[in-house]
Amino acid sequence: MAKVQKRKTARKKRNTQGVVIKNKVKNETPIKKIRMQTKRMAVSKTKSKKFYVIANWKMNPTTAPRAKALFGAISERSRRLKYTNIVVCPPFLYIDTLKSGYSGRKIAFGAQTCFLEESGPFTGEVSAPMIKSVGGEYVILGHSESRAMGETDEDIRTRADNALNSNLTPVICIGEDARDEDGDYLAVIKNQVHAIFYGMSRDWLRRVIIAYEPIWAIGKTGKDAVTAHGLHETGMYIRKILAEMFDKSIAIEQRILYGGSVKAENASALIDGTQVEGFLVGSASLNAEEFFGIAEAVEDYAKR
Ligand code: 13P
Repeated sequence: MAKVQKRKTARKKRNTQGVVIKNKVKNETPIKKIRMQTKRMAVSKTKSKKFYVIANWKMNPTTAPRAKALFGAISERSRRLKYTNIVVCPPFLYIDTLKSGYSGRKIAFGAQTCFLEESGPFTGEVSAPMIKSVGGEYVILGHSESRAMGETDEDIRTRADNALNSNLTPVICIGEDARDEDGDYLAVIKNQVHAIFYGMSRDWLRRVIIAYEPIWAIGKTGKDAVTAHGLHETGMYIRKILAEMFDKSIAIEQRILYGGSVKAENASALIDGTQVEGFLVGSASLNAEEFFGIAEAVEDYAKR
């Protein structure tokens, strides 16, 4: 455990070099100014951009046969997709089973977290190389449900480094727990982006997917999701922070997904013109019909 502690201390030290992480960013630009600034940073939909619909099954389904049935229904429908990448992130236990029974190429697999170390005396944990060895290609990190159980921004970065070292694509969740009219929630986002990505190499950042998942929008109905306008604005704000930390081309290329009550009914509105590259889907991913409705909305947009 000493090794983990040492890493955390080293990270804390590095993160204090010029970037405010622990405290709220002072003098945050008022939201109106941010609106003006992000308007100038238009990101165009390019053919080279990949679109994603990622299923986060969380701790579901409760039996392996049910997991196989759900996966079967999703893979059957996914054969029709041309422009949209489907990633299924089941509980660890099911990855190997589902992957070994799948002969198609449309669906990739991911895990819902990975540990801070590669191996050792860490009872109950699963590491990035283990996920890779059973055919996983992605790993969700920093989900608000994991943060609620104690995962910090420093942990998320350590896990992301491990994932990238093992050739996994980290899907890193960020997002505020509440919105306010003055735009104070933007400081929360800025602090998370700084804490997680500070000092990351450009090559590694290019391999990362950011999932903007405002906590207040998770696990609700389609009507409670962020608005298309709110999503566009926040997505552009995330790009603006990356442009300041790295450069404009990195910011424009960055893959950003949205998660939080995405359903078949709101998927078209949330992908059209919001300049995100797809969705991270929770409860709707447990219903193949609903999940495929979301994938079809993304596919329709991608091929336009
Ligand atoms: P819902 O789609 O159920 O709101 O969950 C979103 C989520 O947490 C995906 O990671």
